Amino acid sequence: MAKMEVKTSLLDDMIGVGDMVLLEPLNEDSFINNLKKRFDHNEVYTYIGSVVISINPYRSLPIYTPEKVEEYRNRNFYELSPHIFALSDEAYRSLRDQDKDQCILITGESGAGKTEASKLVMSYVAAVCGKGAEVNQVKEQLLQSNPVLEAFGNAKTVRNDNSSRFGKYMDIEFDFKGDPLGGVISNYLLEKSRVVKQPRGERNFHIFYQILSGASEDFLCKLKLERDFSRYNYLGLDSAKVNGVDDAANFRTVRNAMQIVGFMDHETQSVFEVVAAVLKLGNIEFKPESRVNGLDESKIKDKNELKEICELTGIDQSVLERAFSFRTVEAKQEKVSTTLNVAQAYYARDALAKNLYSRLFSWLVTRINESIKAQTKVRKKVMGVLDIYGFEIFEDNSFEQFIINYCNEKLQQIFIELTLKEEQEEYIREGIEWTHIEYFNNAIICDLIENNQTGILAMLDEECLRPGTVTDDTFLEKLNQVCATHQHFESRMSKCSRFLNDTSLPHSCFRIQHYAGKVMYQVEGFVDKNNDLLYRDLSQAMWKASHSLIKALFPEGNPAKINLKRPPTAGSQFKASVATLMKNLQTKNPNYIRCIKPNDKKAAHIFNDALVCHQIRYLGLLENVRVRRAGYAFRQAYEPCLERYKMLCKQTWPHWRGPARAGVEVLFNELEIPEEEFSFGRSKIFIRNPRTLFKLEDLRKQRLEDLATLIEKIYRGWKCRTRFLLMKKSQIVIASWYRRYAQQKKYQKIKSSAIIVQSYIRGWKARKLLRELKHQKRCNEAATIIAAYWHGTQARRELKRLKEEARRKHAVAVIWAYWLGLKVRREYRKFFRANAGRKIYEFTLQRLMQKYFLEMKNKMPSLSPIDKNWPVRPYLFLDSTHKELKRIFHLWRCKKYRDQFTDQQKLIYEEKLEASELFKDKKALYPASVGQPFQGAYLEISKNPKYKKLKDAVDEKIIIAEVVNKINRANGKATSRIFLLTKNNVLLADQKSGNIKSEVPLGDVTKVSMSSQNDGFFAVHLKEGSGAAGKGDFLLSSDHLIEMATKLYRTTLSQTKQKLNIEISDEFLVQFRQDKVCVKFIQGSQKNGNIPTCKRKNNRLLEVAVP
Ligand SMILES: Nc1ncnc2c1ncn2[C@@H]1O[C@H](COP(=O)(O)OP(=O)(O)OP(=O)(O)O)[C@@H](O)[C@H]1O
Ligand SMILES: [Mg+2]
Repeated sequence: MAKMEVKTSLLDDMIGVGDMVLLEPLNEDSFINNLKKRFDHNEVYTYIGSVVISINPYRSLPIYTPEKVEEYRNRNFYELSPHIFALSDEAYRSLRDQDKDQCILITGESGAGKTEASKLVMSYVAAVCGKGAEVNQVKEQLLQSNPVLEAFGNAKTVRNDNSSRFGKYMDIEFDFKGDPLGGVISNYLLEKSRVVKQPRGERNFHIFYQILSGASEDFLCKLKLERDFSRYNYLGLDSAKVNGVDDAANFRTVRNAMQIVGFMDHETQSVFEVVAAVLKLGNIEFKPESRVNGLDESKIKDKNELKEICELTGIDQSVLERAFSFRTVEAKQEKVSTTLNVAQAYYARDALAKNLYSRLFSWLVTRINESIKAQTKVRKKVMGVLDIYGFEIFEDNSFEQFIINYCNEKLQQIFIELTLKEEQEEYIREGIEWTHIEYFNNAIICDLIENNQTGILAMLDEECLRPGTVTDDTFLEKLNQVCATHQHFESRMSKCSRFLNDTSLPHSCFRIQHYAGKVMYQVEGFVDKNNDLLYRDLSQAMWKASHSLIKALFPEGNPAKINLKRPPTAGSQFKASVATLMKNLQTKNPNYIRCIKPNDKKAAHIFNDALVCHQIRYLGLLENVRVRRAGYAFRQAYEPCLERYKMLCKQTWPHWRGPARAGVEVLFNELEIPEEEFSFGRSKIFIRNPRTLFKLEDLRKQRLEDLATLIEKIYRGWKCRTRFLLMKKSQIVIASWYRRYAQQKKYQKIKSSAIIVQSYIRGWKARKLLRELKHQKRCNEAATIIAAYWHGTQARRELKRLKEEARRKHAVAVIWAYWLGLKVRREYRKFFRANAGRKIYEFTLQRLMQKYFLEMKNKMPSLSPIDKNWPVRPYLFLDSTHKELKRIFHLWRCKKYRDQFTDQQKLIYEEKLEASELFKDKKALYPASVGQPFQGAYLEISKNPKYKKLKDAVDEKIIIAEVVNKINRANGKATSRIFLLTKNNVLLADQKSGNIKSEVPLGDVTKVSMSSQNDGFFAVHLKEGSGAAGKGDFLLSSDHLIEMATKLYRTTLSQTKQKLNIEISDEFLVQFRQDKVCVKFIQGSQKNGNIPTCKRKNNRLLEVAVP
């Protein structure tokens, strides 16, 4: 039940009490127990009215998630469990909506979680305020200023691994919409003594370790540093490494943050160079050197480090060296230079290192402010966050603690002032009678410290400025004189001191009763620290540096601006800045976060009662509650009050129609709450005692349970009823659906049965009809058949009658014809015998001829002239006709064949015909030549270059060009000769050379002789007495004899118009010069194969053997 409830008040599910104002009874024990109970349940936040007490959980709790931010966003302060987000939201909303500048004051001792709290506030505000690229950049810059300042201003101490060693106040500026515009950071009193010396177990500022661990080799080399921590005197060795801290990674974060904040690269570089210079300063060591005049003088042991520093910072080495050895005091135009002894030199070195570092830190803050300052001039609303060191009470408390505690004293004062003022204002606003509240006002302590004449700080300044020897003891003496009577000042030195016998108070100390407890201060070092002296020689040396940042850090070193006035002391500076801060805070609406440290082991889950008790005391928290509760412990606006408790009264439950205040009055009357326990303000009800509130809460709880039961009851009833109704409705739906389904089924069944019955009936009817139709059809068919038969019978009977009639008529006609014939024959018998035989013969002959020709037509042979086929003669009497037909057909097809010839073919056939006429059946060689085409030019004289001469000599057309054998008459042997026949001549030429041997005009050729046998020999006879006949006739042999002879014959005929005589005989005479020789052809043996051979038999006979 409780889980389901939505939170509307911090009173819901409260562990202990969420607001200490409600604590009953109120005393230290109950206070601590309440805190402890809540702490054990992970409730680290508790309210005192609007003040948030935060206990450091020392572990990350899941209460800062974005979901939590959403949960607390725009909710009223007391609506949810106490949380730092509730305070941040309240502050932000009243800044945005009511235009009230805010300040958030975070106090607590070292390690209590102030810095974390300030970051949580900032991140919450960043999460809920406006968004957009520009706004986001501003937010990012504001948030990223933290890592930079933490690196340079935080250090590991025994109390806190990340202890802020400076006070920080940051104004975040917003526009009218509540979007961040920028910010301004102020820093207070950096603990610079840490630069040169750290207590046991503590470290120097983080940045030194971060550089050495995180910088690249290259960068370290540029800074002339080495990675080894032990090389540097200023770095406390025993705790160089901190558990859970990654210095190298943090270095990267810092550089990144510097970039985001807007540091230029050269600026970052300069900053690190200054840090390196500070580190290296620590390594400069001095040794004593006695001088003649007896004065001690110091000398730098190893100048190497000095040289590197000078290189790094651009200072002349001799200038710096001198500044470490001499001190110049200037007074009224006089300059006095004194040497420094070793101790003074070390003092000077450390002073320089401290100053360099603290000025660098202040410069960083200024530089960050430059980046994050609001860009516009519009009116701004401001939220200030103060993260300042809390009250410090150590074993040895020195000047720093004194200053810090003074600051806290002031803060307490303004807290009391503001709280009371607000309380009072509220009473007036609400019209409630003001009751005086008893509380301790610490103004008197503030006065003890800051009074301009008699205050401790004024005294210290006076002592510092006083001429003559000034020591811490003289200062204490002075204090004793002036403050001895102050009720918050304790010292043993004063004669009339009340503490003369208080051994717990050493002589060199004084004690102040702060509002938070007594603190004993060691007076040693007060004067020195207040003076914060840096020898002028050193600041001048620094000003001379060529390093622009260092130069800027020491403006007083500029000789042109020498100011003989002493610079303000640390104490007065601090007092002034605290005064400004207080003034600033007073104009704003304060919100308090009081941080408490649960143990000093930095461990989670441990709650050290004594430690917490101590903090509660000095933070004045009980005081706080008392002030808050002085009049009324609890107040609440009427509306939420009525809303919360209206169920306790019948008239107001469940609705109250009238004004809320009247409702609350009715409610309180009904509940019979005693009148002195509450008061009605204008808008709020004020409850004097927490008991009353808890009574109300108890009643409410009880009533809520009853109501819950009631609601449960009604709900169950409603649920069952709705379920029943739903089921009923469903049942009806199901039933109707089922009925419908059943009816459908039934209908389907009836329908299908009806269809079956119907189909049977239809079938039966159809069959009946079919039967009837078939019967009818058969009857028709039968009638038709009977009719057909009847008609058939009738027809046949008629046919028979008609046939009978026809036969009778035919018989009559035949008989009539015979009779007529008989009559004609009897009459013409005598004429028939004379003509009939001849006519029958002619007719038969005609018929046979007709048949013969028709058959011939189908049996005709092919059109080839050489086809010898011819159909067989059918009748003997057609023999001559048959032959004649064959002849005519042959001639006709020959003609047909000839008609196809071209002129050239015709010429060839003419030649062939000529050859046939000349040689057919005369020369045995002829038949072999019929198939051979006549080519004439067997030798291609014009193409063969060998015969070019021959070709040139014969300019006529060559008819025959052939190689022949010329027979030698002396021995019958043959010699190759080219035989050429042209249009007019016969030529014989040498076969090899082509030289013409003889040339005979055709007119001189008288005859050509050859045998009748199968040989190629022939003789060309020449005309007697002609020019060519000198050597006699030629006896030649050729493979183409028939062709040559034919061509010779035809050429001669066309040229001379005379027929050449061709003699075919097996014996002829040939004229060789004067002799006539007989050439005789005999049928010889086949001794030499198929070649005819020629032999000379005697002078007058040449015998040619032809195989
Ligand atoms: N709300 C928190 N949740 C978890 N851890 C916390 C919380 N607050 C503080 N711490 C832890 O406590 C440590 C100390 O906190 P923080 O640095 O805020 O202390 P401080 O009050 O600022 O101390 P100093 O005065 O020395 O600066 C943090 O480093 C962190 O580990
Ligand atoms: Mg801090």
